[in-house]
Amino acid sequence: MSDPAPATNPATNVKSMDAIMALCKRRGFIFQASDIYGGINGFWDYGPLGVELKRNIKEAWWQDMVRNPPVGPDGREVSMVGVDCSIIMNPKVWEASGHATGFADPMVDDKETKQRVRADQVIAIYLSDPQISAGEAARIREHDVIDPRRIPDLTIVAGSPREAAALLTSDKPLRKALGIREFAEIGGPVGSDAYAMMDYKGQSRFAVLARCPLDVLREHSDRVPSPFTGKVGTLTELKQFNLMNETYTGAVQSEENKAYLRPETAQGIFVNFKNVCDSTRVKLPFGIAQIGKAFRNEINPRNYTFRSREFEQMEIEFFCHDKDAMMWWEWWRDTRINWYKKLGLTGERLRPRNQTDKELAHYSKACTDIEYMFPFSDEPQELEGVAHRGCFDLTQHARHSGKDMSYFDDESKEKFVPTVIEPSAGADRATLAFLCDAYGEDPSRASPEFLKLHPRLAPIKAAVFPLVNKDGLPEIAEPIHRDIRRQWPAQYDPKQSIGKRYARMDEAGTPFCFTVDGQTKEDGTVTVRDRDSGGQQRIDKSRVVEFLRDKLSRGE
Ligand code: GAP
Repeated sequence: MSDPAPATNPATNVKSMDAIMALCKRRGFIFQASDIYGGINGFWDYGPLGVELKRNIKEAWWQDMVRNPPVGPDGREVSMVGVDCSIIMNPKVWEASGHATGFADPMVDDKETKQRVRADQVIAIYLSDPQISAGEAARIREHDVIDPRRIPDLTIVAGSPREAAALLTSDKPLRKALGIREFAEIGGPVGSDAYAMMDYKGQSRFAVLARCPLDVLREHSDRVPSPFTGKVGTLTELKQFNLMNETYTGAVQSEENKAYLRPETAQGIFVNFKNVCDSTRVKLPFGIAQIGKAFRNEINPRNYTFRSREFEQMEIEFFCHDKDAMMWWEWWRDTRINWYKKLGLTGERLRPRNQTDKELAHYSKACTDIEYMFPFSDEPQELEGVAHRGCFDLTQHARHSGKDMSYFDDESKEKFVPTVIEPSAGADRATLAFLCDAYGEDPSRASPEFLKLHPRLAPIKAAVFPLVNKDGLPEIAEPIHRDIRRQWPAQYDPKQSIGKRYARMDEAGTPFCFTVDGQTKEDGTVTVRDRDSGGQQRIDKSRVVEFLRDKLSRGE
């Protein structure tokens, strides 16, 4: 039997999402929600290891951003407090914030299959003449040089052009439905279009796969083939689809009792701005932080936990004077990027992307998306947004509630509505990024797959093994385990070969394993095995807790 294909593609060094998901399921990081009933689209559960990992990420964020943030750009301590607000808020909040009317994604429905797709996830295949060069093909795909009469001949749903190419290569029934007989991907720059040769209805054509521009879909949806069936004329017009989950409060399910599950935690912070100012001694500039669940009825939940319908956010609204706002925006952007790096995300996979003027909200002066190169995509995807929000939110709430949301500065005697800088992160996306980044393969190890998680994030910090489950070794090992677990999550494992026990811990991302063996009985030392190097050293058993404290505090 030949060896199984490696989970990481050696040519591209791209890790396999399937392998990562399989490990997460096998070792109890992430399960499909309601698994025994076949799951429910867009919802996920965290298992015993996953819950510890996600908690550690949230706790690291709270510790490093709220309780002990870095020194600010003005050389002073940064003032931060936290809140924990309710998920269901007065519906007027969503009118003021704009979510009631504006929180929508453009989408199209297939009238026949009743399936729905987000318009920005439709990939178009532009067919060119057979003689056309790759350069020319790239040019015709640019929006401004597309011949207005040229509309996409075909559409398929995929996250990126390259994903579309992979889908077309592997999915014969889809090719058949779309009338493509042969399809061979021939390249294209990563992150943008993919080029391919194909036999379309008997004709050899050169194809460029690219996102279908919204205006094409808006004007010609009747001429764009359905991404689900390949048929022309079954797509509805582009519609805006509100992402808020509705619910009812009280006994009667009437319009007056309609409420929404919050689509972001930020609004809980804004509506409590006055309460926090009045109940604490915070002075501008200061931030209010919140970690909590948010709900969005995403049209196409996808890419594992990346786009879910229920997820957790870690948000900060930082209030400052408008004249200092750009300085704070830059500081928060850099602080947040450095936080991910400090906890182990590979710098080269992280990309800060400034939103273009076209993308920026009308009230915003700047916004950087901190993006991460996940293995499921050939384009970096948003982990967190760091936005300059002007004074939009507080002004809106002042207008809708009739309450004064301004701040009075004792020193300058100035009264004004503060400007807000918002670093808004997703706890689930961060968890997924840390998992993907930590995932590694090494066939020479006891476990061919391992997770190189930062010790602060690792779900289990240490494991204790008696080399054999007899000869007085468990009696020495158990108290060591007890000492460790008083302070950190630890595991005691007396069974199986030592190699298998190391392997289990490597897959769980446990940074240190302590083994009690025959020598321990003679000189009181135990072996410490380091997950990353596989190296071993002996230390006195009385120093185990001190050893761990030293190692685990690094990176704090
Ligand atoms: N208050 C601003 C706000 O909510 P956002 O870009 O819509 O901004 C912030 O969301 C972060 O929340 C994202 O960067 C992402 O990490 C996370 N997030 C948003 N939608 C998500 C979803 N459907 N599934 C998982 N995480 C999501």
